[in-house]
Amino acid sequence: HSYLRSLSLLGQGRIEKVLVANRGEIACRVMRTAKKMGVRSVAVYSDADRHSICICIYGASHQSYLSMEKVMEVAKRSGSHAVHPGYGFLSENTEFAEACKQEGIIFIGPPSSAIRDMGIKSTSKYIMSAAGVPIIEGYHGEDQSDEKLQAEAVRIGYPVMIKAVRGGGGKGMRIAHTAEDFHEQLESARREARKSFNDDVMLVEKFVEDPRHVEVQVFGDQHGNAVYLFERDCSVQRRHQKIIEEAPGPGISKEVRRKLGEAAVRAAKAVNYVGAGTVEFIMDAQHNFFFMEMNTRLQVEHPVSEMITGTDLVEWQLRVAAGERLPLLQEEIELMGHSFEARIYAEDPNNDFLPGAGPLLHLSTPLADECTRIETGVREGDEVSAHYDPMIAKLVVWGEDRSAALRKLRYCLRQYNIVGLNTNIDFLLSLSGHPEFEAGNVTTSFIPQHYEQLFPKPSPPSRATLCQAALGLLLRERASTQTFRDQSNDPFSPFASSNGRRVNILYSMNMMLQLGETSESKPPSIAQRKQPVSGEVETEGQTSFLHCSVNGVKSRPKLVILDNTVHLFSMEGSAEVSIPVPKFLAGVSTGAQGGAVAPMTGTIEKVLVKAGDTVQMGDSLMVMNAMKMEHIIRAPKAGIIKKVFFKDGSQANRHAALVEFEEAAEEE
Ligand SMILES: *[C@@H]1O[C@H](CO)[C@@H](O)[C@H](O)[C@H]1NC(C)=O
Repeated sequence: HSYLRSLSLLGQGRIEKVLVANRGEIACRVMRTAKKMGVRSVAVYSDADRHSICICIYGASHQSYLSMEKVMEVAKRSGSHAVHPGYGFLSENTEFAEACKQEGIIFIGPPSSAIRDMGIKSTSKYIMSAAGVPIIEGYHGEDQSDEKLQAEAVRIGYPVMIKAVRGGGGKGMRIAHTAEDFHEQLESARREARKSFNDDVMLVEKFVEDPRHVEVQVFGDQHGNAVYLFERDCSVQRRHQKIIEEAPGPGISKEVRRKLGEAAVRAAKAVNYVGAGTVEFIMDAQHNFFFMEMNTRLQVEHPVSEMITGTDLVEWQLRVAAGERLPLLQEEIELMGHSFEARIYAEDPNNDFLPGAGPLLHLSTPLADECTRIETGVREGDEVSAHYDPMIAKLVVWGEDRSAALRKLRYCLRQYNIVGLNTNIDFLLSLSGHPEFEAGNVTTSFIPQHYEQLFPKPSPPSRATLCQAALGLLLRERASTQTFRDQSNDPFSPFASSNGRRVNILYSMNMMLQLGETSESKPPSIAQRKQPVSGEVETEGQTSFLHCSVNGVKSRPKLVILDNTVHLFSMEGSAEVSIPVPKFLAGVSTGAQGGAVAPMTGTIEKVLVKAGDTVQMGDSLMVMNAMKMEHIIRAPKAGIIKKVFFKDGSQANRHAALVEFEEAAEEE
């Protein structure tokens, strides 16, 4: 029924073809709905993306998606009626929204005036305050006398933050918890501000301790209607970026939910909002909430709102942009169950979430169904590019209640298996399994507060894991020796094997396995982490048996063997073990012998050492630029540099050897 309605209205009316000015998962997401509604979509792509699933055309650099002129040109040439900007890139660009209007192309987003009003913090707070939306109480006045500031602090209510107007980077900022410490903190903030900024004008604001980040999905149409689709909790963040989002917010009462929603709708109406928007609040422990900002676009985490309301927000966007009324009235929007979204990133959580890039050599995902969505723009074999955000996918699940949804999330995370680059999947598992997360006790300080438990000391793999790895390697070895092919390339051919072997006789062998990656730059102590594994192999005719007596282990890890490394995925999370490459087989290129290697694909900005230099462990060797950030490559050990493999400005792939060391005399 609703499908037919969409065809007739959109078909007759305005939008038959939409240009999607974005990439990756969001481009795929928008096109999926367009297709469902019989709207044709036009894609654009940059050179860096020319092999991705979302075929998108043109451009040279990663600036392509940001180039207004190019997008407009393609929109006109392709006869598109509308442009969907996705999120990021052009989605909150008022000039672009204006340019579309001038060209008679529908910009799928709010009017440029709304983007502008919400884009300036002081303006938006003023508008919100006037519309009766709670904002953080504060005093920004000229009277800087101690008495006035203290009186304002009392009016605002403790704890308050005393902040230098010129401040930045935490300088000239103090928290006063009581009237008793106000003066001392004020003096201290002033002293620091005078020293740092030569200016001691202060403002006083309500201080929210360990707040939650709660945001409300709103939607407006061109007829003056606006509704809310409940709240999302996005408190758990790292590097100020969200990792796990959920809807509705855990522990939020119906009463607070309604107040949040109504405040968000007032915010939207105050700027004549049209389309999808998000009103962000910070929330204190008593569930008081205060306006922070409004994001005038569809958000990355919109699927959790769709899951709990049974809506398709991209469909709503297209309908509203075509001039239709909102598909549902407020009282028709029902909250059902609970949904989580986990963002799967190419990054190294153990290395301060350093973003990564590289090939997806192996990728298997849980099955998508009614309650499980995998939003992604990559397939096995694709590269995660260093040019863009390192998000690989969003895993979205739904359950009847929060604990069912959380169980489902963890189940699916264990089935998300990736080989080829570091991901945050194991971290997501430990995060989502933390008792305080299970209890819904989340704040923006969650990761620092629970750091010790979220990053447990690496434990050696279980015996079951090691046996599975050994079994995997043995079976592969047999398979390769039985077919007699390409022996020179196979490290397990009899001629490359570092183990002794016999034919046609029962034999046993010892295998050395090493935890972690061989090619990673690691401190020399890695040798101590090699673990001997005894696996008894019996060969009878054509059949091999591996005897591993591990009692009571039920888990059945999945194995992926690549080169000499076994990647195991089990209930314990993922593990990697590999056969240590003996020195005489290890070329310099493996970087295994302590030479520094590139932690990720990127550009070498500056080489700081040359052959013959003596360096200490931890000395800077090179400055690398990747994922829009600078990384210092440090010496993994002390020694003399023998060779430097890269020059300023050259591109280095992940794991490429960057320098080689002279063999130190004490090494064997
Ligand atoms: C929530 O977590 C914080 C930080 O670990 C803890 O201090 C607090 O007691 C917890 N609250 C509840 C209600 O369990």
